[in-house]
Amino acid sequence: MQAHVILDKDYIISDVDPRLYGGFAEHLGRHIYEGIYEPDHPTADEHGFRRDVIEMVRELNMPVMRYPGGNFVSGYNWEDGIGPLDQRPRRLDLAWKTLEPNTFGTNEFVDWCRAVNSQPMIAVNLGTRGPEEARNIVEYCNHPKGSAWSDLRRKHGWEEPHGVKLWCLGNELDGPWQMGHKSATEYGRVACEAAKLMKWTDPSIQLVACGSSGRGMPTFGAWELEVLDHTYDQIDYLSIHSYYGNRDGDTANYLSKPDDMGEFIEEVVACCDAAGARRKSRKRIMLSFDEWNVWFHSHDATKPEPWSEAPHLLEDRYTMEDALCVGGMLISLINHCDRVKIGCLAQVVNVIAPIMTEEGGRAWRQSIFYPFAQASNLGRGTALRALTTSPLYDCKDRKGVPYLKLAAVLGPEGDAVTLFCLNRNLTEPMEMTVDLRAFEGLELKSWTALRHDDLLASNSADAPQTVAPAAMTGARVDGGQLTALLPAASWNVLQLAK
Ligand code: AHR
Repeated sequence: MQAHVILDKDYIISDVDPRLYGGFAEHLGRHIYEGIYEPDHPTADEHGFRRDVIEMVRELNMPVMRYPGGNFVSGYNWEDGIGPLDQRPRRLDLAWKTLEPNTFGTNEFVDWCRAVNSQPMIAVNLGTRGPEEARNIVEYCNHPKGSAWSDLRRKHGWEEPHGVKLWCLGNELDGPWQMGHKSATEYGRVACEAAKLMKWTDPSIQLVACGSSGRGMPTFGAWELEVLDHTYDQIDYLSIHSYYGNRDGDTANYLSKPDDMGEFIEEVVACCDAAGARRKSRKRIMLSFDEWNVWFHSHDATKPEPWSEAPHLLEDRYTMEDALCVGGMLISLINHCDRVKIGCLAQVVNVIAPIMTEEGGRAWRQSIFYPFAQASNLGRGTALRALTTSPLYDCKDRKGVPYLKLAAVLGPEGDAVTLFCLNRNLTEPMEMTVDLRAFEGLELKSWTALRHDDLLASNSADAPQTVAPAAMTGARVDGGQLTALLPAASWNVLQLAK
């Protein structure tokens, strides 16, 4: 099996916005409590944040972090999460049927973001609440001083404004499962009015409106056009969400799903540009892919008792093949970085997450941690439009899937190239040749592969390295051409530099 790639400095997609490698932290299950905030944990810092988790999140290098939901935000009173801890109310969270203690809120989140080197991206509640509460939280977070909400923040101990630049106008309001579910017209109107008030409070902020919560939604397409009609002049980004899974055990089909993600992006871009054309606007709306991941293992899990605090929810245990799917999704994001400027892996700790924790105990990395960390750390710079010729396969949901899926990123200094390559052939290695024509003097500096004989192998607290990248040998650069034999069913990262 052979595939051929041509790379050239002049074939460019776009600069990669570092925010493509963001994360998402929701008040859901054990993400916040026992995940990032556990004051009694042996590694807890003065804020009660787990240092072991902070170190791992730093390895993921997520420049932006979305919060506090997700479905949770559509019933959230942000005022419950500020002020003295002993005065914060305990509330029923109707989204996940859990008890929310509110001992972690907006200020704690901003502090945690600083600790993990992320920029906060805060969603406002446009489900059960509206423009008034949305503009109040912007004032609380961003106004320097001298107004009721900004002075309250200072009284709470945060003298300097948080300077939150990115705000989401609600979450998945096209979905009937959402508290305060709306029609596109209802949402478009309230999002427009909230956006106006929020930007009048702080004109430096950027806003994300809700697109469809999935490509399969019955209102997909019509929702985007209607919402954009109301919000085009107010917003900067339209959001987009996708989760994939392999419920029927069809791996070849599962590994074609990242191509679906690419098409979904192209369709949403088409909607954005159609809305722009209709109003004769030169402004271009960019995409915020602010929830994406594999999510299916926990679908059949036993439900915890309702109204318990920090229950085990959505704790998917990820396998080798899930890491391949996540790798493919990262390649789709990089190859669409001309329009996707923000991405948020959903989520980060314990809840459909790359990082898992034990209460009072260890933290460990799931299989999907690795492709994300590698792309986030090495996939910065300029995405190249790689011309790839690969043998194809047919599967249940798609015909003509290239076995080789690849993204190439030129480093910020212009003298290094990183290749992210997914070999989707489950049984045969792939001989990949890469014509490096315009890149004189590039040499192979490193090559790692993520693979395992058992595609269902996974990591655990006791065996955290079962699925982890390993150094590879045998590739060569000769006469301006790289040749590498990519193992069957593997995610590969090849670094070339002078
Ligand atoms: O990430 C889990 C959930 O998936 C989020 O709360 C919601 O926005 C989406 O449906």
